[in-house]
Amino acid sequence: MTTVSALVRFAHLASAAFLLGSLAFHFIIARPALRAAGAESAAVARRQLILARWTLLVVFLTGLLGFWLQIATVTAVPLTQALRPENIGGVLLGTRYGIVWLVRMGLMLVLAAGIFGQQARESNHLPAFSLILAAALVMALAFSGHAAAGEGIWLVAQLATYALHLLAAGTWLGGLPALALFLGWIFRADPLWAQAALKETTRRFSLLGLACVTALLVTGIFNAWTLIGTVPALVGTTYGKLLLMKLMLLVPLLGVAATNLLKLKPRILALGSESSLKPSRELLRRLKRQVQIEAGIGAGILLIVGLMSITPPARHTQPEWPFGFRWNWNVINSGSAKIRAEFAEAKWWAAAGLAGMVGYALLRRRYRYFLLGAGVASLGYGGWIAHNALAIDAYPATYLRPAVPYNAISVANGLRLYHEACESCHGAGGYGDGANGKGLKPKPADLTAKHAADHTAGDLFWWLSHGMKVEGKAGPMPGFAASMDEEERWDMINFLRALSSAERGRQISALVEPDPWLVAPDFVYRTLGDESRSLKDHRGNEIVLLVLFSLPESRARLAELEAASPQLLSKKVKVLAVPTEINDLLQLNGAFKSLSLVSDGSREAFDVYALLRRSFSEQGTLPDPPVPPHMEFLIDRQGYVRARWIPRDGPGWDKMENLMREIDRLNREKASAPAPDDHVH
Ligand code: HEC
Repeated sequence: MTTVSALVRFAHLASAAFLLGSLAFHFIIARPALRAAGAESAAVARRQLILARWTLLVVFLTGLLGFWLQIATVTAVPLTQALRPENIGGVLLGTRYGIVWLVRMGLMLVLAAGIFGQQARESNHLPAFSLILAAALVMALAFSGHAAAGEGIWLVAQLATYALHLLAAGTWLGGLPALALFLGWIFRADPLWAQAALKETTRRFSLLGLACVTALLVTGIFNAWTLIGTVPALVGTTYGKLLLMKLMLLVPLLGVAATNLLKLKPRILALGSESSLKPSRELLRRLKRQVQIEAGIGAGILLIVGLMSITPPARHTQPEWPFGFRWNWNVINSGSAKIRAEFAEAKWWAAAGLAGMVGYALLRRRYRYFLLGAGVASLGYGGWIAHNALAIDAYPATYLRPAVPYNAISVANGLRLYHEACESCHGAGGYGDGANGKGLKPKPADLTAKHAADHTAGDLFWWLSHGMKVEGKAGPMPGFAASMDEEERWDMINFLRALSSAERGRQISALVEPDPWLVAPDFVYRTLGDESRSLKDHRGNEIVLLVLFSLPESRARLAELEAASPQLLSKKVKVLAVPTEINDLLQLNGAFKSLSLVSDGSREAFDVYALLRRSFSEQGTLPDPPVPPHMEFLIDRQGYVRARWIPRDGPGWDKMENLMREIDRLNREKASAPAPDDHVH
């Protein structure tokens, strides 16, 4: 069915393009060229009229067929049942595709009235507005395509460039067969004016072609960027690969067009009015053949476009990286001295290579070809060195986007899995010191080390799924694809992120950190006062003081916070108190009414924020420090943890004025970092 859909779309696209292209050719090129040559254009107009009628018929029928297939796809029913009135009505009026289709059918009707109507029948008159209608018919396709999926001004820009792309493509590609037909016709026609018409046609068509190709390239690059966006999406998704195929066809197409422009056109324009018409017939035949080749390649491109229109755009699918390596640009600044030296060397070779090429372009001497050869070789060698310096291992999963957002439920789930499956080797604190890890070669990795810079979330996903290889063979790190489902593996990755944040977060103190970096994992909660929200909901509005408490140790502190609550409220601070044990809430007996005491959701919130207990005071005390009875975190309006007080580690916010000072500091600052992304990258 998808093959049929793609073929129908191709037929529709190709016929619509031919309708537009042949009409544009008639009005902009053939008619003026004949006039310039002093020839009658009535016969050509008659042929064009008949051609337009048949083409419009094909456009119309393939349009109907495409609509039928679309209903079957959208409503997921067999073709035989797709044509029920309720299905037709639903798609026609309830989807954007349906509305655009209706409008286009309306355009076709008006166009049909123009070229089949009374006036056209009697005088073989081809009305000029048919060209405008044909252009609208092609451009309207933009509104049912993939581009129509953005927002606001962005959407307008996408639609406009896409419509322009279609206009240019239709005019040029559709104009090619029209040109071939026309050349065949003047071939047979009156030699008296054939040569003059050929010259004028060539001059005009090359201008039109140049304008269309320029518009195609500019709008095409913009479209590719909005629908694909990244290199992994280009080489790793079906949509991206189709685009690459399209570009590969574009190269020979532009090649043929360029030889026409640079070689044939000057010769045609230089034709003198010599008595023999042989040279001009010969050139005409060659031009016609070239144009036929171009039209054939153009049809191939439209076939790919038909396939692309039924393929989800790359931005919405997960890319599968096809290479065993990728370039890690980070090493240029942060890599070892050796790598940086190699990269610097590569730059010199590349510069020398470019110099050689510039020499080739500027000099008119014999040895310029030697310069070119040396330049290419030197550039290639520089590229090879740079490649070796930058390349690191990559996997099909390297550019996967995490399927599970970074939040407390996911991290807590990852923590549970960690205890079950990883702790034995990687150790309770993640330092790589588990009992089963002793004697392994290589040693289990220290998971608290910062690996975000060099590994993508997709790399971690690959290792967790398939294990890590050592010198091409299965190493000691096992894969978990068989024992954990995909979601669990993403949970593990979210946990690993929390773990390395916790290690880096040792430095966080009771004084607000100047640079926000520690993303506060989101969680959904319900309070005893029956308030249901998520931590994220407070972004942009309030500062959150997150308190992890246990009884009886925290009772006095909770009372202090309760007493300070009018002041906290006036500074727009929300106090969220999460119990270590849910039963502690019962003990409170309805006390502390001004604090938001979290009941539902407290388990995950506690597990995750308890991870952030590492500080300098217990550095070196492995395994992991025990969970302190009381902790407080200040979370700013953008959703970053900015300060922390753990009473066990020493004084801090026990003096209420210290807490208020830090809150005032947060209240004074301007938003400096964007709100954090919900996914690990
Ligand atoms: C049998 C012992 C063992 C178990 C169980 C194990 N690992 Fe590993 N892990 C290793 C070893 C050994 C390495 C180092 C492999 C290497 O460098 O080739 C490693 C490396 C890693 C790395 C790569 C870190 C980096 O930056 O290079 C990650 C991530 C990791 N393990 C996560 C996990 C997780 C998550 C689990 C539990 C689901 C787990 N491991 C279970 C032994 C183990």
